Amino acid sequence: MKEIILKLINVSKSFGGVKALDSLNLEIMRQTINAIIGPNGSGKTTLLNVITKFLKPDTGKIIFHGKDITYLLPHQIACIGIGRTFQIIRIFPQITVMENMLLALERGKVEGLFFGLNPFIKYSSKKFEEKAKELLGKVGLEDKINELAENLSHGERRLLEIMRAVALNADLYLFDEPAAGVFPEVRTRIFNLFKSLKEEGKTIIFVEHNMDAVQECAERVIVLDKGKIISDGKPEIVLKDKGVIKAYFGG
Ligand SMILES: Nc1ncnc2c1ncn2[C@@H]1O[C@H](COP(=O)(O)OP(=O)(O)OP(=O)(O)O)[C@@H](O)[C@H]1O
Ligand SMILES: [Mg+2]
Repeated sequence: MKEIILKLINVSKSFGGVKALDSLNLEIMRQTINAIIGPNGSGKTTLLNVITKFLKPDTGKIIFHGKDITYLLPHQIACIGIGRTFQIIRIFPQITVMENMLLALERGKVEGLFFGLNPFIKYSSKKFEEKAKELLGKVGLEDKINELAENLSHGERRLLEIMRAVALNADLYLFDEPAAGVFPEVRTRIFNLFKSLKEEGKTIIFVEHNMDAVQECAERVIVLDKGKIISDGKPEIVLKDKGVIKAYFGG
């Protein structure tokens, strides 16, 4: 039996009169790849933001590895093993790809997550450089290490942002539209990475609009509409659901 890694109990979040999340209950199993889909404004990003503490829920509880994390702060979320990327890419454009990775690895070390390394020992920069190269190699960015990040293509910037999150060596990763606007070949690199992270025991939740992409990568799809889950299950079943089609295409 697989264990539950993340649990949301009755989580709500409103902005003025808009219920972005409406009494949400959700359990995510460890070592699975889960897609969140739903029309624009259905609450997908808000869901990632309440899990990662960028937003405080109005009601409800968030449990991670059996511990209540509802009141943690965003910087504590990385320490407990949750990594994320953003709908609008966040990297440091004016430094190189390698420097972007080294900063992420340093942060992982400081927060004690870098493969269980002791944060009080000084590791050689060589060791970090090797790790950065290894991680970049997983998504075909090894030839770009000396490029300024701002010179990368959109897809390459997305890959870099994802690998900066992976450098934290978290247990749970939340990716907000990682494959939006990238070429199919880059999307394949992203999804192959997700599959290999899963093999390593990681859990992935990603937001995606493209149905083919969802089917290609996710084993479970959770559909949000107006802050509520309207369908949840295997992609081949959920994507044929009449309520889901109506929410997306208006009937
Ligand atoms: N910081 C905020 N202030 C005010 N309203 C917000 C804020 N964040 C989200 N909302 C509102 O909450 C609702 C859910 O927004 P959210 O960004 O979670 O949707 P989404 O599903 O990620 O949409 P998209 O597919 O466009 O990214 C929307 O009505 C949005 O306008
Ligand atoms: Mg969004």
